[in-house]
This record gives sequence, structure tokens and C-alpha cells, in this order.
Amino acid sequence: VTTATAAVAGHVDPVASPPRTLRLALLGFGSVGSAVARLAHDSPLHPARVTAALVRDVRRDRGPASQGIALASDASSVLASRPDVVIEALGGREPARSLVIDALARGVPVVSANKSLLAWHGDEVLAAAEAARTPLRYEAAVMAGVPFLCAFADRPFAASVHGFTAIVNGTCNFILSAMSGGRATRQQALAEAQRRGYAEPDPSSDVSGRDAAEKLCVLLRHFGGWSTTPNDLDVEGIERIDAEDLEQAREFGGVIRPLVSAAWECERPWAIAAPAFIPRTHPLAAVQGVDSGIVIRTRYHGVLTFGGPGAGPEVTAATLLDDAVTAARPGSSFACAASRRPSWDAPATSWFVRVGAARLPDERDTADLLGSHGVWLKRTSPRDTRRGGERQWALVHADTKPRIESALAALGRAACCDTLAIRAMEA
Ligand code: NAP
Ligand code: HSE
Repeated sequence: VTTATAAVAGHVDPVASPPRTLRLALLGFGSVGSAVARLAHDSPLHPARVTAALVRDVRRDRGPASQGIALASDASSVLASRPDVVIEALGGREPARSLVIDALARGVPVVSANKSLLAWHGDEVLAAAEAARTPLRYEAAVMAGVPFLCAFADRPFAASVHGFTAIVNGTCNFILSAMSGGRATRQQALAEAQRRGYAEPDPSSDVSGRDAAEKLCVLLRHFGGWSTTPNDLDVEGIERIDAEDLEQAREFGGVIRPLVSAAWECERPWAIAAPAFIPRTHPLAAVQGVDSGIVIRTRYHGVLTFGGPGAGPEVTAATLLDDAVTAARPGSSFACAASRRPSWDAPATSWFVRVGAARLPDERDTADLLGSHGVWLKRTSPRDTRRGGERQWALVHADTKPRIESALAALGRAACCDTLAIRAMEA
């Protein structure tokens, strides 16, 4: 039994020497990095010590968590501190990319919570890990508090995945959950998500869908071997969804959730990152607040479901430390080379549509106009006048996104309507 294995298994072997204290270097000492330092210091589970940390501003007071840690704004001194593992919690693409490649080239295992790094530079950093025969792990990059990627490591049958649907952005799920039922406005909910450390340093990354799209790229690589960047994908945010949309979704028997979804063993592989209406019976409909969840479609195990906290400094720190303990073990590997580059399509779905105007046209005229564009009404709501003017919602069928967009644009021109369309996905 190796010392690391004994520690991870949580039992004490009287003849084995105690696990060696793991020396950790942190790249970044913000919400996540400082939580790693606190947990490494406080937890009896595995002896670990943060020796050095890279920050921009070395003069800022960082409180007790930084005691005994050499803070530096010069990355070379941090990497020169001879750590057993580097934990990358900087965020963004550079200097994260260069520093991770540098650490791997020195033979130092790296663990990262940075989906931007993996989404945009996955090919390069994973190739660097392979060339250096040094582990690069990224369990915390997607659904930070749910250790599920590791469940597929070295299990080729379980890992025969052909699609998934997931909620991967905790901030957006937290905002929509808080807005639903009128507990908070979008701005109040976002402020609370920031206060709790869920949001990205630039929270527009969360609400615009960019963060989810990056995580989608990580999942596509991990489960499909697809080399994809967010530029290749259909990405939408939650900016235009309001409390009445969420209320009407409930009236239609469903909820609106920020989803990513993909399938590739079909005629045309598709992948999207977008909010969607799902029926109440969908397994992800019950995933609320900052929680995340994923439904994975596999060839041999049917449908596998994982869920739990998707964001938060403490859960992310715990996942990073588990990755660090594993990465320090000889032979540990997580890298997954991707060679396939598809052109991603979007799925054919129904749509949840809102139209609003000072005075809406007659419903029959609306149905005729939409029908002339190949869009069919399946269900409509009563007209709502609470915001002044008239608003109405509908579930409609349209086989492609361009078709729904051109139909709603025509309606907007004909009747001065403001429109919103989000996908309606099946269970
Ligand atoms: P953060 O609070 O903004 O912290 C970033 C840290 O990196 C800060 O200490 C900052 O230094 C340092 N830094 C940034 N750019 C630098 C540069 N060019 N040179 C030197 N230091 C630099 O961010 P965070 O919320 O901890 O997130 C870190 C990473 O974890 C991101 O990739 C994020 O997506 C990921 N993540 C976050 C969560 C979560 O729940 N928050 C969950 C999973 C993954 P200063 O302190 O001097 O500014
Ligand atoms: N801002 C991200 C989220 C952090 O809310 O999901 C976890 O990656």
C-alpha cells in the first residue's frame, strides 16, 4: 500500500510510515486558492502544506490563510519552490496556459479548476502533460463539488459515452432558482452568488453562457475525445429570461434550467449551451440553487446520473486537494488526448416562446403567420398585462433554430412584437 493510497482510503496502517507532507504551490490566491490553503492547513485527512502562491498584488492583506505562505508576483519563484504538485487557480487563458506548460515541462504534476484553460488550450496542455509523462488533472473544472470525471478513469466500458445533458453553471442555476417564485431579482441573485464566491471573476462569463460553453468543451473532450472550442458551439445566456417566463414555464408543466447538451452517435453530432424549458419529470428539473447535475448516456450502463454542488470555494478546494493527492501518486494520469474535430449541429427541439407588444395581434393571425414559416403552435397561455401592454407565451414546434428565428422576426416586423425563444427539451 503506498502512503498516498492509505491516506486516501482513510485507514491507518501501523507498519506503514505516515504519509509524507505534500508540498503545494498555488497559482492564484483568490476565492478558490485561499480556500485550498485553509483546507490544506486545517484538514487532518492528508498532510499538505501550501508553500508558495502566485498573486498579482503581494501587498494586499490576505488574512490568516496566507500565514507561512510565500506570496509572489513572480511565477518563476513559485515554480522554483520545488512543489510536489502545482494547483492552478488563476482563471483565464494567460498566464495560466504558459505556467501550466512550464510546470509540466519541469515534471511537476498540475491540477486545475480552470475550464477556460482546458476549453481553449486543451490540446496543447494535455499534449504537454503527455510529453512530460506528468499528470494534469481537472476534476474541479466541471461541477466542482461533484467528483464524477474520475469515476470513468480506466473504465473503458463505463466510459463508452455517446451523449449527456447537464447543468454545469452553478451561478446561473442559483439565479434562475432565486428568481423563480420571486425570492430575488436577477441583480440581487447575482450579487448573492458573487458574495458566496460562486461567480466567475467576470460574472458576465456566467450569465452569457460562456462558462457553460467552456465546460461543455471539457466534457466533449473527456467523454468523446472531441477537440472543440466555444467558437464551434451554439451558445446562449440567461440574460433575457425574467420572472414571468419562469412562472409561465411552471404553468406549462416544466422549469427553465441552464443546460449543456450533446449527442454524437447520431446522424449529425450536435452540442448546445443554452437555457431550456424541460418538463417537471426531467431528472435535471429537481436540480436547484447552486447545485449541478449531469445525465450521461452510455452504451453499456444506460443512463448514469451525478449531482451535487456545482460551485463554491470550499467544495472546489476539496476537489482540487483530492486531485493533488492523486496526482502526486506515481503513475496517476488523467490526460485525455482528443483528435476528432466535428462540425457541431444543433438538435431539433420544440421552443418556449414569449411575444410582447403594446397590443398583440389576434391569435389566429399569429398562428397563420408562424405557420407560413413552418412553425406550429402547440399550446398558448392567456394574455398577461402585468407589465403594461400584452404578453403571451407558447410552446411551438419548429424543426430548426433559423426557422424559429425567421418566424419570430417576421412576427416582430408585422406586429411590432418583442420576442424571446428558448429551447424546449424532452425528458
Ligand atoms: P479569483 O478570486 O479572481 O482569484 C484569482 C487569483 O489569481 C487571485 O489571487 C489573483 O491575484 C491571481 N491572478 C490572476 N491573474 C494573475 C496574474 N496574471 N498574475 C498573478 N496572479 C494572478 O478567482 P477564483 O474565483 O478563485 O477562480 C479561480 C479559478 O477557479 C477560475 O478558473 C474559476 O473558473 C475556477 N473555479 C471557480 C469556482 C468557484 O466556485 N469560484 C469553482 C470551480 C472552478 P490577486 O489576488 O492579486 O488579484
Ligand atoms: N462560476 C462557476 C459556476 C464556478 O458558477 O459554475 C464553478 O465553475
